[in-house]
Amino acid sequence: MKGIILAAGSGTRLYPASLPISKILLPVFDKPMIYYPITTLMLAGVRDILIISNPHDVDNFKKVLGDGSKIGVKFSYAIQEIPKGIADSFLVAADFIQNEPVVLILGDNIFHGFGFSTMLKLAAVRNEGATIFGYRVKDPERFGVVEFNEKGQAVSIEEKPKNPRSDFAVTGLYFYDKNVVEYAKSLKPSKRGELEITDLNRIYLEKNKLKVEILGRGFAWLDTGTTESLLQASNFVSAMEINTGMKIACIEEVAYRMGYISKNELMLLAKNFKNGYGEYLQRIVVKN
Ligand code: G1P
Repeated sequence: MKGIILAAGSGTRLYPASLPISKILLPVFDKPMIYYPITTLMLAGVRDILIISNPHDVDNFKKVLGDGSKIGVKFSYAIQEIPKGIADSFLVAADFIQNEPVVLILGDNIFHGFGFSTMLKLAAVRNEGATIFGYRVKDPERFGVVEFNEKGQAVSIEEKPKNPRSDFAVTGLYFYDKNVVEYAKSLKPSKRGELEITDLNRIYLEKNKLKVEILGRGFAWLDTGTTESLLQASNFVSAMEINTGMKIACIEEVAYRMGYISKNELMLLAKNFKNGYGEYLQRIVVKN
């Protein structure tokens, strides 16, 4: 399965904080935001990852992440010239996808919760249809919203409805089978001029091929769209990390635990950081 991180937005809601650099590279507590979606894909077992950026920020992404070989993955880069919607990613990435199943994650979506890696691995091995994730929110009108029948099956999906039919937002993590590029090509721009991911999901729903997994109350799905929510995300990560002594979304640690790099390779990476981050990596080498 291939992976895509959509990191092409200009982050205008965070201006001036995101003027010098893409919002997706701003720190969430102790690491760049993009580390969070990267580790989500790595935990799903995905190692071939395309990062879609705007023309202005692509060099910064390359500088921060390189080709991925240090952490046992492969990063490549593509440019979305103008923001044409989330589903446009599949047109930009058509050559990369090459008729394979693919998972797309939005660069500013942070997920954390017990059992998440198992859920990801299961979604990644489903070869047919699409898997998306629903999460109860207090303001569903800001998101894609999925409605369920009494059997828990998804029956409708709408983008930012004025009168939401449920409280379940569709999160920014989407697994698709190999038909996704073909379906994306059939989409027409919405009123806001974008190829909507919700319209793509509706195609799968109408074919009875859309699986919606619910992320329960124990899960955190964090938004980083505004300065307040960005700070809250940092506070959440710091509280978890300080309490448990374990990091969330540490790419080097995940690479090691997934078996993508050896103990020696992790030790060498640890030496690059003369600070608490490096000490943390060394501790993992010693304690396992
Ligand atoms: C987008 C999608 C929406 C989804 C949300 C998740 O919203 O269009 O369906 O619920 O991401 O973050 P947008 O980024 O356009 O506000």
